Amino acid sequence: MGSFDLKIISKYFDLPEAKDVDYYVQHGGYAAARKAVRMDPATILGEVKASNLRGRGGAGFPTGIKWGFVPQGSQTVYLVVNADESEPGTFKDRHILFWNPHMLIEGMIIAARSLGVRNAYVYMRGEMLREYPVLQKALDQAYDKGFLGERCFGSDMALDITIYRGAGAYICGEETALLSSLEGGRGWPRLKPPFPAVKGLWGQPTIVNNVETIANLPWILENGGQAFADLGVGRSGGLRIVSVCGHVNKPGVYELPLTVTGRELIEDVCGGIRGGRKVKGVIPGGVSMPLLTADELDVPFEFDALQNDERIREVEVQPGVKFDLGGGRTLRTMAGSGGVVVMDDQTDMVSACWRILHFFADESCGQCTPCREGTGWLTKVVKRIDRGHGRPGDVELAASIADGIAGNTICALGDAAAWPTLAFLTKFRDEFEAKIRSSTFVAQQRAAAEQGAP
Ligand SMILES: Cc1cc2nc3c(=O)[nH]c(=O)nc-3n(C[C@H](O)[C@H](O)[C@H](O)COP(=O)(O)O)c2cc1C
Ligand code: SF4
Repeated sequence: MGSFDLKIISKYFDLPEAKDVDYYVQHGGYAAARKAVRMDPATILGEVKASNLRGRGGAGFPTGIKWGFVPQGSQTVYLVVNADESEPGTFKDRHILFWNPHMLIEGMIIAARSLGVRNAYVYMRGEMLREYPVLQKALDQAYDKGFLGERCFGSDMALDITIYRGAGAYICGEETALLSSLEGGRGWPRLKPPFPAVKGLWGQPTIVNNVETIANLPWILENGGQAFADLGVGRSGGLRIVSVCGHVNKPGVYELPLTVTGRELIEDVCGGIRGGRKVKGVIPGGVSMPLLTADELDVPFEFDALQNDERIREVEVQPGVKFDLGGGRTLRTMAGSGGVVVMDDQTDMVSACWRILHFFADESCGQCTPCREGTGWLTKVVKRIDRGHGRPGDVELAASIADGIAGNTICALGDAAAWPTLAFLTKFRDEFEAKIRSSTFVAQQRAAAEQGAP
C-alpha cells in the first residue's frame, strides 16, 4: 500500500477547534453550501451522480440514483440523516458527529437544496450522549450565522434541521423502522416497496442517508463529482471510513482509499495482530456481514470486490447442498457499514458466532415469524454447541434454520443473522464439529451405548 495523505472527512478528527463554526469557516467550510443554495438543484444532482458516491450505511446503494427516485414535482420532500449507528463493530459515524459536525450540516444543506427539502432530521442513536450536545451546538451556531433558517446564506432557500434522539433499539437504524419511530410510532420496519424515496416520512418522499454519505457532499461540490469518482475504483467513488476493532495493535477509525485490501488494513494501517499472533477471521463490514478467513484477505474492502470476488467460497454446508440466499446469490460478503472486526488465531469461532446471534435475537423486532422464532432457535442451537451440549446434526440444523430465515423476512435483520451464521458454519465447520464430538450429550450417548442401553 502506497502512502496516501488525502483526508476528506477525517481531516478534523482529534482537532477540537474544528467543532467551532468560525474555525470551520476560516478553513473553507460552508463555501460549498453557500454556493449550493443558489445553484440549480439538477446541477447538484448531476455532480452527485457523477461522483459515484455510494451509501455508507450498509448496502452501498448509489446516492445519486436514490435521490433520482424522488417523484418529479413533489411538494414536500424530507431528508433524514441516519445517525443510529448500532451495528456491533461499527463506530465511525459517532466519530464524524463528534469531531466534524459542521461538515455533516453543510452536507445536509447541499442535499436539501438538490432535493427541495424544507425540513430535515438527524435521527440520532439515544446512547450518543457525547455526540448529541456537540451536534446541537453546531446547529445552534449555524442558525446564529444565518446558514440555516428562513434564508440560508441570505438566499431564498429555507431549511430547518432537527435532531431526533432514538431510544436504543438497533432495528431503528433500518430506514423504514427509523421513519416509523420518527413519526412517533413503534420502530417496526415496513414492507418495501414503496421505498422511502417515494413514500416515506408521513407518507411523503423521503431520502434517508447515512452520516458519512452526507458528510462527503461538501468535498464533492467543491471539487466536482468526477474528482471524487477518480479517487475511487470501478463503480465506487471517494474514500471510505472504516472502524477497526478486535485483536489488532492499533484499532481505530481510518479514512482510506477503496483499494486497500484486508491484509493491508491489518498489517500496514493497524500495525498487525497483537502479540505477534496470526489472523484467523475478519468481519469486513459490521457483524451482519459474513466473515472472511485468513486466506481471503487479499481483496480490496470495497463494495463490489467483496461481493463478487470469486475466491470467496460458496456455501456448502452439506456435501452437494448449497444454500441459496435469495435471488440466486451464493454467500459472499459485503463492505457493509465499514465496521471491521479482526479475530486472532486464539478466537473461539463457535463462541463468536453465538455472541453475534445473541445480539440479533435480542434486537429482532418480532414482527415476522422466521426472524422472531428463527433467531431464537439459532441462538439456542449454537449456544448449546458452544457450551458443550451439542448434538450430532446440530450444524445441519443450524444451517437449515438460517436458510429458512434468509430472504423470508420484512427487513434485512433476518439476513443479517442468517448470512454470518452460514459463513461461520461453513468456514469454521471443524470447530463446531469438534465441540459436538466432545460434548456431554455425545459422551452420555456413548456411555449409554457401552452399558448396552437400547
Ligand atoms: C437492521 C438494520 C440496521 C441498520 N442500521 C443502520 C444504521 O445504524 N445506520 C445507517 O446509516 N444505516 C443503517 N441501516 C441501513 C439503512 O436501512 C439504510 O439503508 C441507510 O441508512 C441508507 O443510507 P445510505 O444510502 O447513505 O447508506 C440498517 C439496516 C438494517 C437492515
Ligand atoms: S426481519 Fe426481524 S427485525 Fe426485520 S421486521 Fe422481521 S422480525 Fe422485525
